[in-house]
Amino acid sequence: MSQIKNREIRLASRPKGTPTAENFNLARTELELLPDQQVLVHNLFMSVDPYMRGRMNEGKSYVPPFEIGKPLEGGAIGKVIESCAKEFKPGDVVTSNFGWREYFMAPAKELHPVNQEVQPLSVYLGTLGMTGMTAWAGLQVGEVKAGDVVYISGAAGAVGNVAGQLAKLRGCRVIGSAGSMEKVNFLREKCGFDAAFDYHTGPVVEQLKVEAPDGIDVYFDNVGGESLVAALDALRLNGRIIACGGISGYNSEKPQPGPANLFNITTKRLTMKGMIVGDWLDRRAEFEKEVGGYFRAGKLTNHETLIEGIDKAVEAFLGLFQGQNVGKMVVKLA
Ligand SMILES: NC(=O)c1ccc[n+]([C@@H]2O[C@H](COP(=O)([O-])OP(=O)(O)OC[C@H]3O[C@@H](n4cnc5c(N)ncnc54)[C@H](OP(=O)(O)O)[C@@H]3O)[C@@H](O)[C@H]2O)c1
Repeated sequence: MSQIKNREIRLASRPKGTPTAENFNLARTELELLPDQQVLVHNLFMSVDPYMRGRMNEGKSYVPPFEIGKPLEGGAIGKVIESCAKEFKPGDVVTSNFGWREYFMAPAKELHPVNQEVQPLSVYLGTLGMTGMTAWAGLQVGEVKAGDVVYISGAAGAVGNVAGQLAKLRGCRVIGSAGSMEKVNFLREKCGFDAAFDYHTGPVVEQLKVEAPDGIDVYFDNVGGESLVAALDALRLNGRIIACGGISGYNSEKPQPGPANLFNITTKRLTMKGMIVGDWLDRRAEFEKEVGGYFRAGKLTNHETLIEGIDKAVEAFLGLFQGQNVGKMVVKLA
């Protein structure tokens, strides 16, 4: 094998508050000879995700922190260039957790083969990937059923748009909130949401009351903060909250106060359940069958914002916190 020139993004320092480009650096490396049993992969697409913000901090969480001076990690889809492992041959397409770099070598057990007939391949980072699975698993956690009125915050993002489309397929009335009129129109026109509003244009509690005057049954929480407070007010008796994410607080330097109206949980017998998609990996086949089936049948659409080049990956990541993506934010590497 000839030597391969690689570029990768490393963590330069830990951010205080909102991360900036200075917290990262782009490094050049050369990959040496292919050791036994390893597979050499050229990444085609990589994922940037809000949870990576948590990994930039020091300290224990549900995933280990990124290490200063080391390449970041995350979802990626790539093509096998050379293989010393019997499980893979050149030309195979695989998903891995070796994002944030152009090329990598890994043992076969770290790679997951995918069907190349499904296009675009970036769908394996979105609707048919980790974020799509989060949406699907979240709806199960919330025991979402036909007839439910479901409110989704961060609705125009990767998890939110799929959660809304799947809830519609289950026969729910679906309301979404997002950060611009462009996103509101996207939710109504491209994702089949029954109603949507821009959370910047007025208090969420009031906008939600207009769209759901009789209340909601389920809140799919991607953002926390004001939307969670509004949902606690709007939820009906025995309502459910799917605690998926809280991006409104990820860059806060101090702990955020909890909702002042939490006592709604008692009076309305609400259930709030936390979920982490990593706990659902043993149900991947079920997810691929159901959600993959909808996708192949044209009942579910993959939406993404594509940014090109590893030198733009940090920008793409930082853009998540400014709402620059519609659908899944993906970086095209090759
Ligand atoms: N529990 C799990 O296993 C799991 C797995 C995946 C993701 N998540 C969580 O699910 C949520 C959505 O993730 P995603 O991958 O789908 O990301 P995403 O929604 O595609 O991207 C992030 C979006 O968050 C919105 N946002 C940014 N700052 C905000 C703020 N201060 N207040 C309200 N909204 C803000 C922006 O949209 P606007 O323009 O609408 O503001 C932005 O586009 C995140 O909280 C993430 O951490 C959880």
